Amino acid sequence: MRGIRAGDAAIGLLVATLGLIGLIQAAGATDDEIYVFGLSLLTFAVVFDFGLLKRHFDTVGQWPEDGYNETIVKKFLIAAVFWAVVAFLMGVVLAAQLSWPALNLGISFTNFGRLRPVHTSAAIFAFGGSALFSTSFYVVQRTCRARLFGGETLANFIFWGYQFFIVMAALSYVMGFSQGQEYAEPEWHLDLFLTLIWVLYALVFIGTVVKRQEPHIYVANWFYMGFILTIAVLHIGNNIAMPVSFFTAKSYNIASGVQNAMIQWWYGHNAVGFFLTAGFLGMMYYFIPKAAGRPIYSYRLSIVHFWSLIFMYIWAGPHHLHYTALPDWTQNLGMAFSVMLWMPSWGGMINGLMTLSGAWDKLRTDPGLRFSVTAVGFYGMSTFEGPVMSIRPVNALSHYTDWGIGHVHSGTLGWVAFISFGAIYYLVPALWKRTGLYSVRLASWHYWIATLGIVLYITSMWVAGIMQGLMWRAYDAFGFLQYSFAESVSAVHPFYVIRLTGGVCFLIGALIMVYNLIRTARGTATETTVGFVPVPAGE
Ligand code: HEM
Ligand code: HEM
Repeated sequence: MRGIRAGDAAIGLLVATLGLIGLIQAAGATDDEIYVFGLSLLTFAVVFDFGLLKRHFDTVGQWPEDGYNETIVKKFLIAAVFWAVVAFLMGVVLAAQLSWPALNLGISFTNFGRLRPVHTSAAIFAFGGSALFSTSFYVVQRTCRARLFGGETLANFIFWGYQFFIVMAALSYVMGFSQGQEYAEPEWHLDLFLTLIWVLYALVFIGTVVKRQEPHIYVANWFYMGFILTIAVLHIGNNIAMPVSFFTAKSYNIASGVQNAMIQWWYGHNAVGFFLTAGFLGMMYYFIPKAAGRPIYSYRLSIVHFWSLIFMYIWAGPHHLHYTALPDWTQNLGMAFSVMLWMPSWGGMINGLMTLSGAWDKLRTDPGLRFSVTAVGFYGMSTFEGPVMSIRPVNALSHYTDWGIGHVHSGTLGWVAFISFGAIYYLVPALWKRTGLYSVRLASWHYWIATLGIVLYITSMWVAGIMQGLMWRAYDAFGFLQYSFAESVSAVHPFYVIRLTGGVCFLIGALIMVYNLIRTARGTATETTVGFVPVPAGE
């Protein structure tokens, strides 16, 4: 077939238009952020379109459109592993800065306030997001027996566009730009760019489900779709803002005061519920049965799990705003839904764990599966801890303390990162067509070092958090506060150092994984393992 295909031409034109917008913005920019963004967008567009044309002329008449699109799965997987290391490293830097504030170095670019969102965005959106893109594209194609909808170029644009967004967001935080909303720090121009990428992602995923050759939509796809659609709604809803001008990064959110806070935590909590939970449950529902070689324990339970989880999560946001100007009834509503959320969460956990009935022995030989199963355990733990923390009197103690940070990391390290590691250890041999991992022993080392890291991290934060909470509310015999704030800061110092040690362990584990995966991909398989057979197309 000769000539540029209509789809490729449309994407080329879209990207060229973006480049033109970048050029205009850079030309009129009144602040550094828009200037850098405009120029980068222009460069992105030129490079992307040049690559598109080159590919066109290199491959005229031989479009590789057969079978599954595994290239995009591999690209996102490599990105996920790369961003994992960056995110963990940033976490270690933050933990060190909290232990020894001199490490802020007195330079604006390296201070804690600017690096913190780099860590959270790198961990959630770059690492977690890339892992979700990779696995969702893999799972949807196989369970629908259909090639990815929209073709190679669209998938490529989603990949490069998403990576571009991540780098630009990190750069803007380091330069000191932020709209000040947690997990939604990027300003309006980046939000708009992400909206475009996300809508295209939804189109590709849902398009693939629609053209499926399987009568049923496998449950993992329900979770992925719930995640994709809800994140679109949340991202748009929370970021409706009026820019000061087209040439300035500053914007004002449509809502203000307590309404703004409520919308922000409706977004923030559901970022947890849909980005960090529903998407990764999609991973659980595909990779645990695959690695265990067993069907899912109960398909019926998975459906109840899906609908109850998405219905309840959406109401729980107010638990982030206990004892604030938010009306009491709203706080109580949030608390009630949070407590109820325990049940569907544990329903999902039980479904994941019971899938292993009769296959528990595989845990000994398959470290990837061990990661996935431990992740489900941590999922159960943090979804018990969360409802407890959402009870108002408990939150009166836990809020503002490091207990929250401990909870966050038992969810993110134990659940999000571990379930991703499980999927990654499964996918690399499968995608690179190897018989097994380079070294099962190294994967086992990764498992134990990372688990030790999590235990150190969360136990130190529990102790530090409860101690802070108790110190802040202690009164002496005269009714004065017994401790100054500074005393509570110095009391937690040893625990911050323990947390740092845990973080270093987690990072070392990840580096071991990177080495193991590179050796696996290079094809030097020295050991074979039971759980890592490549998945035949169509299964
Ligand atoms: C080596 C691993 C990691 C280390 C050492 C680490 C360390 C840290 C530190 C020191 C903070 C700041 C705490 C504070 O403000 O008091 C933080 C915050 C945070 N981290 Fe990590 N982190 C790691 C991995 C991750 C991962 C994998 C994720 C997500 C997938 C994640 C998500 C978050 C979030 C959401 C926050 C903000 C918490 C809040 O505001 O309540 N972290 N991390
Ligand atoms: C039933 C499930 C869950 C409930 C009811 C829940 C509840 C809570 C509560 C009450 C807080 C403290 C709010 C505050 O005092 O400010 C919190 C914070 C948080 N939780 Fe959970 N949690 C759940 C599961 C999870 C999971 C599985 C993860 C991660 C994968 C997670 C990530 C977070 C994060 C990132 C924060 C910190 C938000 C911030 O202040 O920046 N939660 N959660």
